[in-house]
Amino acid sequence: MILTTGTAGFIGSNFILDWLASTDEPVINLDALTYAGNLENLATLQGDARHTFVQGDIGDSALLQRLLAQHRPRAVLNFAAESHVDRSIAGPEAFIQTNVMGTFRLLEAVRAYWNDLPPDEKSAFRFLHVSTDEVYGSLGAQDAPFTEQHRYEPNSPYSASKAASDHLVRAWFHTYGLPVLTTNCSNNYGPYHFPEKLIPLCITRALSGAALPIYGDGQQIRDWLYVGDHCSAIRRVLQAGTPGEVYNIGGWNEKANLDVVRTLCATLDKLQPRADGASYATQITFVPDRPGHDRRYAIDASRIARELGWKPAETFETGLRKTVQWYLDHPQWVANVTSGAYRQWLGQQYGG
Ligand code: NAD
Ligand code: DAU
Repeated sequence: MILTTGTAGFIGSNFILDWLASTDEPVINLDALTYAGNLENLATLQGDARHTFVQGDIGDSALLQRLLAQHRPRAVLNFAAESHVDRSIAGPEAFIQTNVMGTFRLLEAVRAYWNDLPPDEKSAFRFLHVSTDEVYGSLGAQDAPFTEQHRYEPNSPYSASKAASDHLVRAWFHTYGLPVLTTNCSNNYGPYHFPEKLIPLCITRALSGAALPIYGDGQQIRDWLYVGDHCSAIRRVLQAGTPGEVYNIGGWNEKANLDVVRTLCATLDKLQPRADGASYATQITFVPDRPGHDRRYAIDASRIARELGWKPAETFETGLRKTVQWYLDHPQWVANVTSGAYRQWLGQQYGG
């Protein structure tokens, strides 16, 4: 079996659903259930003996030791993190706690477990760390996309904490020989995406008649990847990646934020037109920029294509249409995640 962390969140829950749709290998899902964790994402697995959920923190060494000894996984995949850049600006401490200290504690628990494995299990074991393209910093308009050799230049508390975790993972390979794999992925979108991030924020706010907030001039560029493609890339890296190596994952889909939101509005205009016949694009509103806002991210995903034969299946247009349709089909999920603490966050971040 495998043990995954942070897999009640957006990418992690998609990963578990994808994993169990493609294999019968059981999975232990360890998640602290912060505001971003949501067991409703995994409701379709109720009663499925292949999935075991454990609520807990990756910083809890005693719990980790117990879980590893009890379940004896052949791999540990670390998705757990504080993941939202704006929240890291408003309050960085939780990011240092989970992304740096949590990863450290997880690495130490896994190292102790791995050290005691019999030789064949020890050499087959993998620790896969899920990271981000944001560790590479910001690109200029004419710069080549990030390769795995790009220097680390993180600019936000979030990306600095992820960079620190990547460095720890690398050091545990070089110093202790722990067979690690690191993936650095670009912006994901798709089902179960918490509506604090640009795409789900704008879909849910468009439908509720609220303003669609665009930071600064809206010309910042991100490289969008459908979450299902990220999941298939992680499965492939786990299966065939070389320990100690890094794999960049991206969709070859660079888009300016304003174009993303305009495309999203045009998709909604077709799938669920506004009652007054106006376009959802009339709700677009420019708001003050994010401090330290990175201008452009772009991933060169040629290594994973060349060495592991992975490439994305979705284009931005097909992925976005599926995503918008998913939100239209799941109003109860949206209603449940947009209550209480979420509304407080919106008030703090956007005012009003
Ligand atoms: P998310 O915020 O939706 O989910 C994070 C999950 O981790 C939640 O379920 C939360 O409860 C859990 N968690 C947080 N702190 C924890 C702790 N201390 N112990 C155990 N669980 C904890 O994040 P996501 O978008 O699904 O991102 C998953 C991973 O992928 C993160 O490591 C993130 O840095 C990375 N990543 C995300 C993107 C993206 O576009 N969303 C892109 C590249 C990489
Ligand atoms: O690049 C990978 C990263 O992508 C992941 O590591 C992070 O976990 C994930 O949150 C995401 O970070 P971003 O900051 O790029 O995503 P976000 O959806 O917050 O913002 C996308 C772009 O849209 C960014 O340029 C900021 C802008 N934006 C965002 C929000 C929330 C707006 O213009 N308005 C908004 O209200």
